Amino acid sequence: MEPLRLGVLVSGSGSNLQAILDAIRKKRLDATVCLVVSNQPKALAIERARRAGVATAIVNHKDYDSREAFDRALVTKMREAKVQWVVLAGFMRLLTPTFLEAFPHRVLNIHPALLPSFPGINAQQQALDYGVRVSGCTVHLVDSGTDTGPILAQSVVDVRADDTVDTLSARILAREHVLFPKVLQWIAQGRVHIMASNGSSGRVLVQLDGVRASVGVAGAR
Ligand code: GRF
Repeated sequence: MEPLRLGVLVSGSGSNLQAILDAIRKKRLDATVCLVVSNQPKALAIERARRAGVATAIVNHKDYDSREAFDRALVTKMREAKVQWVVLAGFMRLLTPTFLEAFPHRVLNIHPALLPSFPGINAQQQALDYGVRVSGCTVHLVDSGTDTGPILAQSVVDVRADDTVDTLSARILAREHVLFPKVLQWIAQGRVHIMASNGSSGRVLVQLDGVRASVGVAGAR
């Protein structure tokens, strides 16, 4: 089978991008990163991609009049690179239907909490403030809501009494680096199936190895 063609969108440090690149290098992930696009010109993630010999592009949202125009520019880049799946690895912009409809059910995100708890920014702080005893990370398909798409996988970590945002974030991030490449490999192996669920329009059913994994709403919520 041909390696899965990935496009990665980043805004920050790119440690998840690094985990994906490392998994490919170690032959744990049958994929190729065709393009890394950042909306932040100085993102460390871009440096990591260049070091790995991966093509990069900067598409700065500040150069566009609307979210749709920005998303159209992203779609053009991804299509030029013949990307099959888009990976959001610390990408700090919300995608509009303009982008999502170009890659229907082919956009993945990782979030540093056990969704549907604590969506949005500062998820680790939200978890500490609430006083939960466990947290973790979630890999999900992206829809036009904030961290609302169908869940593919989650990994759980303990929340300790003396945790700070930094210590909890570090423990979760270590799990992200294992979980994200693992889910991508499931996709590369053809183990993930996404289909319209029976009867109810707009909903999608996600199956892993033929077993129901998640049901989510495909469009906006
Ligand atoms: C991670 O915590 C991820 O869950 C969130 O953004 C952060 C990205 O970190 N979506 P990095 O840029 O991959 O180091």
